[in-house]
Amino acid sequence: MRFHGSLSAAMASSIAVCRLHLRGSLSKCFKKVDSCFQREFGTSTAATKTDAPNKKYTIDSKDGNKSFYTVQEEKMEQAERSVLISCPAKTNEKKFLSYLSRHGDINKCFFYESYGTYAVVEFSNKESLTSLHEGTAIPSINHEATVPFKSRLLSLRNAGPVDMSNGQSAPPCQPQTTIHINDLIQRLSKEASIDQQLSSLTETYQLTEENVCLRFLVCSLLKDIAAAYFPECTIRPFGSSVNGFGKLGCDLDMFLDLDGISGRNLKRPKAGLSLEYQTKRSASERAGTQSILSVIGECVDQFGPGCVGVQKILQARCPLVRFAHQPSGFQCDLTANNRVAMKSSELLYLYGGLDRRVRCLVFSVRCWARAHSITSSIPGAWISNFSLTVMVLFFLQRRTIPILPTLDHLKELAGPLDKSVIEGNDCTFVSDFTKIRLQDNTETLEQLLQEFFEFYGTFAFNRMSINIRKGREQNKPEMSPLHIQNPFEPALNVSKNVNGTQLERFVALCRESAWMLQQREFNVPHSGSATGNNAPWGLAALLMPSVSQVAGVKGRKKRKREPASERIKGLLESLKNSEVKS
Ligand code: GTP
Ligand code: MG
Repeated sequence: MRFHGSLSAAMASSIAVCRLHLRGSLSKCFKKVDSCFQREFGTSTAATKTDAPNKKYTIDSKDGNKSFYTVQEEKMEQAERSVLISCPAKTNEKKFLSYLSRHGDINKCFFYESYGTYAVVEFSNKESLTSLHEGTAIPSINHEATVPFKSRLLSLRNAGPVDMSNGQSAPPCQPQTTIHINDLIQRLSKEASIDQQLSSLTETYQLTEENVCLRFLVCSLLKDIAAAYFPECTIRPFGSSVNGFGKLGCDLDMFLDLDGISGRNLKRPKAGLSLEYQTKRSASERAGTQSILSVIGECVDQFGPGCVGVQKILQARCPLVRFAHQPSGFQCDLTANNRVAMKSSELLYLYGGLDRRVRCLVFSVRCWARAHSITSSIPGAWISNFSLTVMVLFFLQRRTIPILPTLDHLKELAGPLDKSVIEGNDCTFVSDFTKIRLQDNTETLEQLLQEFFEFYGTFAFNRMSINIRKGREQNKPEMSPLHIQNPFEPALNVSKNVNGTQLERFVALCRESAWMLQQREFNVPHSGSATGNNAPWGLAALLMPSVSQVAGVKGRKKRKREPASERIKGLLESLKNSEVKS
């Protein structure tokens, strides 16, 4: 369904303006949505904390042992109080903050670069935004018409004579992208142990607190657009933006949540009069999702400031609207009715928070796979990051002393508030970290990396399926080369797209990497390290392109395998000769 341009412009702007005046009642609505959300997902911000002795969980996050939804709600609320401002490059931070603070106290502010300099400003109170909007003008452009669409994406103008640079070069900018792989290899080569290499890689790649704030803010800005149609909707980030395994620069997966307004949770009186809304019906839930995304996609395309390259991909298994959000630099995927994916994100977040080795191993394996084109940002027959993460979790469940509990065990620990059934699938598992007891596994990251490669280098992929619910391999129900049971939709294989060639490449690379890590030439720092000549070793050596060449996984034709001594000689030569540019 498409609106006529001028009609939709007028409608959207008037609704957007009305929304500003309706703040009081809207905030009540948001509170209502929050409580419905908690009921629906059965997860309370005041999740029950038990004080049983002998707890053995490890939390490696600054958010402590807060449940996934508690963290989400907090960050969404912060985002609601924030604005994104495009600033002149040489903005004086002090003057900028002093100018803005006339609207109220500022909690947090940071700058970053993305096609220009931007500032994220979080006010202490949402009321400050009313004051800010009142003092903000719609730009007047002589030769072009502007749609008076008011949002929280603003531009700072200086009509003079305020000297905003004040002799300063530029405000300090927070990094929003990762370093180049060559720089990473060089950085890792300077570390003293493989364990430190895995930790260093994780620290280098993981999302920063500021980047996560920006992700929530983009969701909140998008929600303002969708709210023109569905005032009580919520847009939540999911996937690697929130599951603890996100790398700087990863895409922003968003979920338009209409559950709060669906009325499903509203109790109808058993007797007497009551009112209900008249609505249009759609042929199926999927058709409804498609039309909602189509309309919102159109609105994002026509009026979404900074949203470019909008594509409506409505025929996909999971319909979505894809676009680039230029001010943040994020590639965005907006979906609706995708609650199972939210649950998967919550599960990954939980597993990643249980033991610090989980995130280090996942980050390192993901980076290794990307370096050798085992994974790709383009959809195809490749193993996805999600599948790879599930494979790491499964491996950690399969240790002699398991590092991670099975999903079935997490379900046994669930309390009444954790109950969750989505489209007939039981997605229940515990949300309270403190209820989970871990076993005493003391393996080092180096051992785990080595064993990971050996485990999958010899895994019976032809017969067996990977199942994190049971924590053990099971007979394959169908003949896809790689079978990874979807944790919450057991009939589905999350790696159905992977073909035999891609799986073979993965296995060959695992074998080569396992073998390399056993060689002294690779598993100890090179003698030149002390003199600053950091030849790649350990994890750094595993990321070198020469590894996939030696493993014969780059070319399509199978190479005749050389004897190990020849391979190691060739590989050593290539590593020694490689110029790692900074
Ligand atoms: P990146 O590659 O860093 O974006 O990782 P990601 O985890 O965000 O993956 P992606 O953007 O491809 O997917 C987003 C989320 O959708 C994942 O985290 C999962 O929760 C879910 N998802 C992706 N692929 C599948 C799948 O094949 N099956 C199921 N059930 N969920 C999936
Ligand atoms: Mg993603």
